[in-house]
Amino acid sequence: MKPLFAQIPALIHGCDYNPEQWLDAPDVLDADIRLMKEAGMNTMTLGVFSWVTLEPEEGKFNFAWLREIMDRLYEAGIYTILATPTAARPAWLDEKYPEAMRVNAQGIRAHHGVRHNFCPSSPKFRMRAESIIRALGAEFKDHPGVILWHINNEIGGECWCEFCRARFTAFLKDKYQTIDHLNKQWWTAFWSHTYNNFEQIEPPWRNGETTIHGLNLDWKRFITWNFTDYVRFESDILRDIAPHLPQTNNYMHLYPGLDYHKFSEIIDIISWDSYPVWENDKETYFQTAMDPSFDHAVMRGLKPTKPFMLMESVPSYVNWHPYNRAKKPGTHLLSAVQAIASGADSVQYFQWRASRGSFEQYHGAVLTHSGKTNTRAFQDVKALSDTMNDLKEIVGSVVASSAAVLFDWDNRWAIKDAKVLSDNTKNYEDTCRKWYTAAMTQGISADVISPLANFEDYKLVIIPMMYMIKPGFAQRVKNYVTSGGVAVMTYFSGWVNENTLCHLGGFPAEGLSEVFGLEAVEIDTLYPGQTNHAQFAQNHFKVMDYAEILDVGAAQVLASYTDDFYQQSPAVTRHDFGKGTAIYVGCRMEDAGNEYLLRLAASHANVRCMKIPSGVEYHERHGDAQYAFYINWNETAVTVHDCKPGVDLITKKSVDTSFEISGKSVAVIKAT
Ligand code: GAL
Repeated sequence: MKPLFAQIPALIHGCDYNPEQWLDAPDVLDADIRLMKEAGMNTMTLGVFSWVTLEPEEGKFNFAWLREIMDRLYEAGIYTILATPTAARPAWLDEKYPEAMRVNAQGIRAHHGVRHNFCPSSPKFRMRAESIIRALGAEFKDHPGVILWHINNEIGGECWCEFCRARFTAFLKDKYQTIDHLNKQWWTAFWSHTYNNFEQIEPPWRNGETTIHGLNLDWKRFITWNFTDYVRFESDILRDIAPHLPQTNNYMHLYPGLDYHKFSEIIDIISWDSYPVWENDKETYFQTAMDPSFDHAVMRGLKPTKPFMLMESVPSYVNWHPYNRAKKPGTHLLSAVQAIASGADSVQYFQWRASRGSFEQYHGAVLTHSGKTNTRAFQDVKALSDTMNDLKEIVGSVVASSAAVLFDWDNRWAIKDAKVLSDNTKNYEDTCRKWYTAAMTQGISADVISPLANFEDYKLVIIPMMYMIKPGFAQRVKNYVTSGGVAVMTYFSGWVNENTLCHLGGFPAEGLSEVFGLEAVEIDTLYPGQTNHAQFAQNHFKVMDYAEILDVGAAQVLASYTDDFYQQSPAVTRHDFGKGTAIYVGCRMEDAGNEYLLRLAASHANVRCMKIPSGVEYHERHGDAQYAFYINWNETAVTVHDCKPGVDLITKKSVDTSFEISGKSVAVIKAT
C-alpha cells in the first residue's frame, strides 16, 4: 500500500495557510510553526491567493518570504502543498488587462475584485498566469518540502466574453463539423431556429436564445471544456517545469457547473472541499452525513484505485451558511473519520489562522483570533491528530465497492433543462443520493461513477433516471447483464440521445427495452400531496412524484400499482437476461422501497448485505488488512452485529462479532 506522498507515510493533516497576511508580525509566524507542531499538522497549503505578494508589480517577483516560510516549515517536518496563485488577480493586472475580468450572462463585464472570476480564454490573463507559474515553479520545484501542486482554487462560474464566444464557436464546429448536422441535432426547424452558419450562434444569453436544449447543453459542456483546457494549460506548464511533482485541483461538493469526470483525466490526485450544514434544524446527523458521504463516493469514484484528499473542511463553523452553527462535541471527529472511511488519506482545513480582517475574518480556523490553544477548535484538531495517528496503517488502502451508482453531469444538465415532469420534483441529484443511502444502509458499499467509467467492474449497478443515453452505453448495459451483472434502472431512463433528441421507437431506448423486458409508455407526474403504492407479494411501499405505466413483455412483475387508472398495472419488474438480472423501478418509491429492492438485487448479485443499526454509517477499506469503519451518528450507544472479529485501532481492544459503540463515536476494526 503506497502513501500518496513517499515523504509522508501517514495520513495528511493540514490547512490552508496564509502567512502573507502576517508578514509584518514575525511573532505570529513564529507562534504558527510552534502551534502547528502542537496540533499535529504535517502539511500546509501555501500560495492560494498570494499573487499580489508574489508579484507586487508586473514582472517583479518576490519569493523570498515564501521561501523562508517553506524552509522553516520543512525544518519543522511540515510539508508544503504549493498553489498556483491564479484564483484571485492583483489590481495591477485588471487595470492593465481588463479582458481578464469576466463578462456575465447579460453581457456586462465585471469590475475588478472578489476572486474565482478570471476569464479562462483571455490571452493576456493566460500570459500573466504563465509568467507567474513559470517563475514560481522554477523557484520551488526542487524545494524538498514541496509535495504537490495545487492548481488554481475551486474553478467555477462562467465567462461570456468575446474570447469565450469565439472558442464556443470553435467547439461547436469541431463537434458538429457542418451546420446542417448541428441544426438536425438541435432540432432547430422548431420555431424557425435554423442557423445558416456557425457564426450566427450566440451563447444562450439570458435575454437571448434560451429555448434550444441542445444549445443550452452544449454551452454547459463548453464551459467544462474551456476550464479543462485552462487547467491543462496550468498543468502542462507545471509538468514541463517539475514533472516529478503530482498535481491536484480542488473540487467543490457536487458543483453543478462543471463535469468533474473530465477534469480528473488531467490531474493526478483527486481532492475536494467539504462544508456540510451540520447541526441544522431539519435533519438527524445521519441524514446530514449522507450528503458528504455521497460526495466522497463521487470523489472516490473519479480514481477508485487510490485515496483522495479532503483538501478543505472546517474545525468549527464557516461564515457563509444561512446560520453558522458551531459544531457540537464529536461532530468534528465523526466528519473527519467519515472522510477517511470513505477513502480519503487526508483531513485538511480552511484555514490555519483566522484572518484579522476582510471577507473571511469570521470563518472558523484552527487558531482563532485569540491565538490560544485552549479553544474547542484547536483541541478537537489536536485530538484528531492522535486518532489519525492510530489509523496510520490504513494509509494507501482503498474502499473496494461491490456496487456503483451511475451519475452523469450531462444527464443532470439535460434533466434540469428538459420541459417535462415537474421542476419542483425532478430532483435528479437527490434521487441518486437516495439510492446511494439505500445501499449504504444495507451495508452495500457503492461508488458513484460516470456511465462512461468501468461499471462492468461492479457486481451491482444502480442507474437512476438515466434520461440521456450516450453512444455505446445501452450496449454496455446489455453486455453487462448478459454476462451476469445485475442492473437496477429507474423511471425516466433512456429517452434522449447525447444532444437531447428523443429516441424513437419506445423508451427505454437503444435496446434497453429488450434488456429490461418492457416499455415505459407513459409517465404520470403526481402533485406533492398525491401518492400511490407499489404492492409487492408481501410488502407495499409508498409511491410519490413519478409513476410510469409499463407495457411489460418478457419481464416478471414484482409489484403493481394499487391506485388510479393504472391500478394493478406493473410498477416494478425483474427480467432474467443472459446470465444476469435487470430490475426496472417504474416509480419513485419511499426509501424503504429502494432498500427492499436493493436487498433483492444484492441477492441476485451475490453481494453481502449487513444489518447496520439505524444511524450508523459503515465503510470498509482494504489494503494489507481489512478495516471496517463504524460511524455512530446517533447520540446514544448502539450495538453492531455481524462484524468480522478484530482489533479496534482506536481503543486497541479486541472486538467480537458484536460490540457496542457509544453515542457520536467511531470504531475502526482491523480484521484479524
Ligand atoms: C472554499 C475556498 C476557501 C475558503 C472556504 C471558506 O470554498 O476554497 O478559499 O473561502 O471556501 O469556507
